[in-house]
Amino acid sequence: MDTIKSEEQVITMTQFRKDILTGLQASPKFLQAKYFYDHQGDLLFQQIMKMDEYYLTDAEMGIFLNQSGDIAAMISAENTPFDLIELGAGDATKSIHLLQELRERELEFSYLPIDISANVIRHLEEVLPLQLPGLAIKGLNGDYFKMLDKGIALSNRRKVVLFMGANIGNMHMEEAMAFCRSLKEHLSTGDMLVIGFDLKKDPKQILAAYNDAQGITAAFNLNLLSRINRELGADFDLKSFEHYACYDPESGACKSFLISEKEQVVHIPGESAISFGAYEPVYMEISQKYSLKEIEAMARATGFLSKHLFFDEHKYFVDAVWIVD
Ligand code: AVJ
Repeated sequence: MDTIKSEEQVITMTQFRKDILTGLQASPKFLQAKYFYDHQGDLLFQQIMKMDEYYLTDAEMGIFLNQSGDIAAMISAENTPFDLIELGAGDATKSIHLLQELRERELEFSYLPIDISANVIRHLEEVLPLQLPGLAIKGLNGDYFKMLDKGIALSNRRKVVLFMGANIGNMHMEEAMAFCRSLKEHLSTGDMLVIGFDLKKDPKQILAAYNDAQGITAAFNLNLLSRINRELGADFDLKSFEHYACYDPESGACKSFLISEKEQVVHIPGESAISFGAYEPVYMEISQKYSLKEIEAMARATGFLSKHLFFDEHKYFVDAVWIVD
């Protein structure tokens, strides 16, 4: 790739290399789920969202299709202008229903989608103004907090933060606590957070969502190894790693691993070789599931007041509205 890169992208490349090496040189080995989302990963995640087994997207879509009017009313309570900042906006197919409601109510707001994927941000800035003429939109490509700081600095309007899609599930519960706490510290009293949690439910249903019959989730995980091959010139043999998912109904942790099927050595040019033992796991991702009790406790412990819970018809999923205390 000899295209000209902005300074930010060069830093991102270096950070990618650093994070990948840190994880592969650690014991036990791990990789960061945020790196799933290159172009290929975005496409695979879109396929995941369409799978029969992956109930999360339909559930949250139901909430936004049926209750966006109520959510809009809640976040526009005082009718004052605000910035709507979405963390991990993706293709915004759910939030667009809320945006529509906000536009119909002629509320004064700017939409600031944040995403780790540059493709996603480019696409949103192109497509949303066509679907919602006159929408004030500014996309921010990068890590949540870096971009949140940027977004917050853009105006002194009150903030409403959207953190949907159970993205909070990609953190361990203590990490999620710390995340909400620092989110609160970036915000001001009265600012709002709409945050989506996947709820604890039938363990078989949860496991199936991360262990689909077609192997799309497996491909999604393996794509990170391909990405390391593509971007760092590594020589991962994808056929000798297998995706393994498990769910612990007690803790609510659903975890994904790639298992090295044999003893093998992987090379990344410029680095010392990385050896894998037979059946050695690489920890890829957590998708934490929550009880309502745990969600309420998290709001209180992190400095928010829980205002309302929006459920889908099956109560698989909840979008909670929290206010900075
Ligand atoms: C985008 C983090 C919500 O954990 O359910 C889907 C990612 N990983 N299938 C999730 C994912 C495997 C997803 N989140």
